[in-house]
Amino acid sequence: MSPAHLQLQAFESYLKTRIIGRAAGYANEVWDTIGSTNDRAAELALAGAPEGVVVAARKQTAGRGRHGRTWESPLDSGLYISFLLRPALPPAQLPVICLATGVAAARAVEHVSGIRIGLKWVNDLTYGGKKLGGILAEMPTGASAELPAPLIIGIGINVRSYLMEVPPELANIVVHLDTASGHDVDTNLLAATLALELERVYTLLLSNEQSTVLKEWKQRAVTIGRSVRVTGGDSLLEGTATDILDNGALVVIDEHDKEHVVYSGIVSVRSSDGSYA
Ligand code: BTN
Repeated sequence: MSPAHLQLQAFESYLKTRIIGRAAGYANEVWDTIGSTNDRAAELALAGAPEGVVVAARKQTAGRGRHGRTWESPLDSGLYISFLLRPALPPAQLPVICLATGVAAARAVEHVSGIRIGLKWVNDLTYGGKKLGGILAEMPTGASAELPAPLIIGIGINVRSYLMEVPPELANIVVHLDTASGHDVDTNLLAATLALELERVYTLLLSNEQSTVLKEWKQRAVTIGRSVRVTGGDSLLEGTATDILDNGALVVIDEHDKEHVVYSGIVSVRSSDGSYA
């Protein structure tokens, strides 16, 4: 039997939230095909949509990842979903929302699949050292100043391997939920569980309880205590990742025992064979 695909009514029937997916005057959207759910959520934000609107799609033709990468989004192979938030938080705390979203996504995936998810700074979901999902948080420019500034949280989770042609060079890098858990996962239930877990961590952050969320992030961290390589722009840093600060930054100690505080960049973790992934 082919699995249920993402569908608005089914998604909403599972929804147990109070804020996310409950935006007054704005319907949630599930598209068969769209360019990027983040772009559509930004459009709604600029049109004045309140926080909580959810935009998801069965397929994206212009899915985007971090650092200008493409996020391959074939039909029904993954969950492609974006949430519009308007966090009443100081800008310095916005990076923590990204880490908190990682915690929410890990909890949701674990709940529906039974597998244990790791988190790689800044916000990759991993299983068995491979990438299962990622998060792209963006602040669209040009929003009216009447509402708190919008933050779009886009999440991509690899669900069904057999609906995606994984290029050979990615075979050892990415993993899907069906191969990781041994069964098919209902994308509607995953999306609704993700909305609920995101609302839970978001509520914690709004009530100034970021330390609870950061503690959970660290428990799932595959980065802390490991040899890492951080690339970004022209810079390259190698060392040991030792901690995450309260503002979400990664602490790396290099070979000369010098401490570096990393706010952005691509982090690769060194494997036992000396390669970085
Ligand atoms: C990453 O590079 O790890 C982040 C990937 C984020 C992909 C998701 S899929 C839904 C949303 N729409 C996009 O275009 N990107 C994000």
